[in-house]
Amino acid sequence: MDAATATTVDAAPGSGKDLLLSATDVTMQFGGLKAVNDVSMQIHTGEIVGLIGPNGAGKTTFFNCLTGLYKPTSGSVEFIGRPLPPRPRKVVREGMARTFQNIRLFHNMTALENVMVGRYCRTKTNAIDAIFRLPRHRREEREATARSRELLAFVGLEKHADTLSRNLPYGDQRRLEIARALATDPKLLLLDEPTAGMNPQETREAEDLIFRIRDLGLAILVIEHDMRFIFNLCDRVYCLVRGEVLVEGPGEVVQNDPRVIEAYIGTPQIVEEEGNADA
Ligand SMILES: Nc1ncnc2c1ncn2[C@@H]1O[C@H](COP(=O)(O)OP(=O)(O)OP(=O)(O)O)[C@@H](O)[C@H]1O
Ligand SMILES: [Mg+2]
Repeated sequence: MDAATATTVDAAPGSGKDLLLSATDVTMQFGGLKAVNDVSMQIHTGEIVGLIGPNGAGKTTFFNCLTGLYKPTSGSVEFIGRPLPPRPRKVVREGMARTFQNIRLFHNMTALENVMVGRYCRTKTNAIDAIFRLPRHRREEREATARSRELLAFVGLEKHADTLSRNLPYGDQRRLEIARALATDPKLLLLDEPTAGMNPQETREAEDLIFRIRDLGLAILVIEHDMRFIFNLCDRVYCLVRGEVLVEGPGEVVQNDPRVIEAYIGTPQIVEEEGNADA
């Protein structure tokens, strides 16, 4: 895996790390609904950043704005010091990869073939090379296969290389999606609910996998509803509520912020019983 090779742009004050992603005042409006409202976010190399918030808070919509799937109504996104290209395919080539809340694999392809699809964005073969199976095509095909096998091993799926992805258990499909994203050689990996539907053992393994990905030099932005997972994993956390950033900060600060607790469980109704006001 290539380590992140972000050029030094704007180091965060005191962090000593390079700024990879800078989103400024991003707004995404659907008719009368501002699903994302003036959201700003910075992510640096080697960081694991969490994005939390109740259902419908705008987390996935914000991911879609970052990855070129949506063009924000207003605001800007810079990646490695340059404006984000307007197409998802170009965003991937720039070094940003993602997984989806609803798994999107090619179900009639094997695990290995799914990872190889991710690899193709880094190959230079053209149609003529491929049709006539010219040497460059054959060489790139060999390299893509070897790299994809390595990545399957990295996520723990080496034994399932030839299994059709639709026959893999749910947790394995999620890991396969991560392997496919890694095959594009990203500098920043975005994960939308990577442990949804996983049992506690699988969730722990996913946590370990994300740490190992970070240790390769990537930055990770992860959406999750599992708070234990988020606060174990993340250096910093953004909490989104109704499209706006309610709180941002180190995990231990966000975790104990009463506004975050309230956003998830609502304001407790305090009923003072007569004569019990001081209790
Ligand atoms: N393409 C769209 N057109 C119209 N409204 C949309 C669209 N996509 C999302 N929304 C609305 O935007 C709001 C935010 O949705 P989003 O999927 O981003 O939330 P989320 O935080 O990812 O929620 P969850 O935790 O349930 O996945 C919701 O009210 C949703 O209905
Ligand atoms: Mg979502």
